[in-house]
Amino acid sequence: MSNRGSFSGRIGFILAAAGSAVGLGNIWKFPYLAGQNGGAIFLIVYLLCIVFLCYPVMVGEISIGRSAGTDAYGSYSKLGGKRWGYLGMFGIIVGVMILSFYNVVAGWAFGYFLHISFGDLLNEPDMGGFFGSFVNDILDLSSAKGVANSNFLFSLIFMIMTAFIVARGVQKGIEGANKVMMPSLYIILIGIIVYALTLPNAMSGVKFYLIPDFSELKVQTFFEGLKQAFFSLSLGMGTLMTYGSYLSKKENIPGSAAVIATADTSVAFFAGLMVFPLVHFLQYKLQVDNIATAGPPLIFIVLPQVFHEMGAIVGRIIGGSFFLLVCFAALTSTISLIEVPVAYLVDTKKMQRKNVVWIMALIIFIVGMPTMMSQGMVPSLNKLFFYRGQDFLGFISDMCDISLTVGGCLMCIFISRRWGIQNMDAELAQGNETYMKSALRKYLHVCIRWVCPILLGIMSILVIIEKFIGLENIF
Ligand code: PHE
Repeated sequence: MSNRGSFSGRIGFILAAAGSAVGLGNIWKFPYLAGQNGGAIFLIVYLLCIVFLCYPVMVGEISIGRSAGTDAYGSYSKLGGKRWGYLGMFGIIVGVMILSFYNVVAGWAFGYFLHISFGDLLNEPDMGGFFGSFVNDILDLSSAKGVANSNFLFSLIFMIMTAFIVARGVQKGIEGANKVMMPSLYIILIGIIVYALTLPNAMSGVKFYLIPDFSELKVQTFFEGLKQAFFSLSLGMGTLMTYGSYLSKKENIPGSAAVIATADTSVAFFAGLMVFPLVHFLQYKLQVDNIATAGPPLIFIVLPQVFHEMGAIVGRIIGGSFFLLVCFAALTSTISLIEVPVAYLVDTKKMQRKNVVWIMALIIFIVGMPTMMSQGMVPSLNKLFFYRGQDFLGFISDMCDISLTVGGCLMCIFISRRWGIQNMDAELAQGNETYMKSALRKYLHVCIRWVCPILLGIMSILVIIEKFIGLENIF
C-alpha cells in the first residue's frame, strides 16, 4: 500500500462510514420531514427506500472504491475509462456543494450550543425572532445573550475543526475522531430520549410518530423519502467510495454496509423518538396543535422553547447536550465530505494532504457565503426569482439531493454496463466466502441491474420536473 492511509480495520471503517451517514440529515432534517409528511407513514416509505434502493447502491459504491483503491474520480476512470471519470468529478463537485451549505447549518448548531450552554438564550421570549436575526445578521459580533452572535464566526470555527481533523490523516484524524464522537453521540441521544419520554404528553408524540395514517400517503412522500434516504446514507457522490478505498480486502463489504445502514437508520429513528415527545410536550404546555410541521426551523425555534419550559438548569443541560449531539453528528459528516475532494487532490493530483485540506476548507467556506447570506441579509438570495421565491439554501440543497439520486442511478449503470457486475461480485467475494452462492448476490444483481437504475432514473426526472415546473402542470 502507498502512503495514502487506511482504516485500522472493520470497526474503524464502520464507525467512520456510519459517522459520515449520521449527521444533520438524521437529527435536523429527518424529524422535520417526518413532521411535515405524516409521521409514521413517512417512516415506512423511508425504510422501504433504504432496503430496496439504498442498500444495493451502498454495497456497489464501497466495492468500486475498494476495488480501485483510489479517490472517486480516479476510481471511475481506472475501472471505466476517462469518460466515466467525469461521473467521479461530478460527485466531487456535489460534495463541495453539500459541504458549503452543510457547514453553515452546522455553524448555527454550534452557535446554539454555545448560546444555550454558556449564554442565556433560554430566557429569550421570542425564539422565532431570535433565530431570524441570528441567521440574518451573519457578522454581528456584539455579545448578544452573553455569547458573540456571529454565525460567520461559528461556521468558520466549524470548518477549521473539520480541516484540523482531516489534516491528521485517515487513521489518526478521521478514524480517531469518529471513535470518540460516535459513541458519545449514541449515549447523549439515548439519555435525552429517556428523559423526553417522562414528560407530560410525551406519548401523544410517540403515537404521532409510530402509528401510520395511510390517508397522509402522497406521491410527495415517496420523493421526500427517497431523497432523504440517499442524503442520509451519504450515497451517490463518492464519500463511501473514498472511504471504501481505505478498507482492507479482508473485510466483508455487504456485512459492513448492513451495519452502516442500520446504524444510520436507527439514529434517524431515535431522533424522531426524541423530537416528537419534546414537541408534543410543548403543545401541551402551550395548549396548541401541530407545531411538528414547523419545517427547517423545528430544532432551532421549537426545541429551544421546549428547553425553556424545562426550567433554567434542566433546560440548559438537556438543551446544551442536544446541540452538542447535533455538532458531533455534523462534524463526523463534514470530515467525510471534505475528504472526497482532498482524496482526489492527494491521489490523482499527487498533492500534499496537509496543504490541500486547508486550501479546500477555505475554498468551500467561500463557496458557502451565498448560503450564509441567503437568510435575510441579501434579499435577492432570500427570494430567488428563478426558483419560485425560495432561498438559496433551499435551492442548493434541492440541487444536491437531485444530484445524489442521479449519481446513484448512473453508478448502477456503470456497474452493470461498464465495469461488469461479475467484477463487483469478485470484489465482494473477498472477505465474504459465502457470497458467490448466496441469495444476497441474486438480490443485488436484480437491484443493481434493474430496480435501482429504473426507479432512481424515473424518480430523479420526476423530482426535477416537480422542482422547476411543478408536477401539477404536467399531470
Ligand atoms: N449523511 C449526512 C447526513 O445525514 C450528509 C452527507 C451527505 C454526508 C452526503 C456525506 C455525503 O447529514
